[in-house]
Amino acid sequence: MAKTLIVGSDHAGLGLKRELSAVASELGYEVVDLGTNSSDSTDYPDYAHQVASAVARGEGLGLLVCGTGIGMSMAANRHAGVRAALCGDVFSASMSRQHNDANLLCVGARVVGPGLAGEILKAFLSHGFEGGRHERRVKKIEPSA
Ligand code: RB5
Repeated sequence: MAKTLIVGSDHAGLGLKRELSAVASELGYEVVDLGTNSSDSTDYPDYAHQVASAVARGEGLGLLVCGTGIGMSMAANRHAGVRAALCGDVFSASMSRQHNDANLLCVGARVVGPGLAGEILKAFLSHGFEGGRHERRVKKIEPSA
């Protein structure tokens, strides 16, 4: 099965997004980049909504990068079915998949360096959902459940 990572960033996250895209490619992921591809100042929600929509449609896992990752995670988590995890450490990235079934990773380019960000992405992509008792809890994340 093809593994797809849908990526997006604003101007602040552009450089790190490109570095992380290369990491994902090395891991065998097809990377779909929904922008931005310019260093001109831009608005992070525009990219968050595009990537989150694709993730909600089941087109792959997502990666969003802005200065802090905060704005991206706020916007992405407005989409039903999207569980965006803002991670600044490897343990959280692993647990976001194992316990929270996160399907979108947010990273802050002004918070973590490229080396750590690469390890965070690798942890996110190499772990899966444990299910079991976590299944019930994840279902309760959606307010309608
Ligand atoms: C852009 O200056 C910055 O506000 C944005 O990248 C992000 O950090 C917002 O959450």
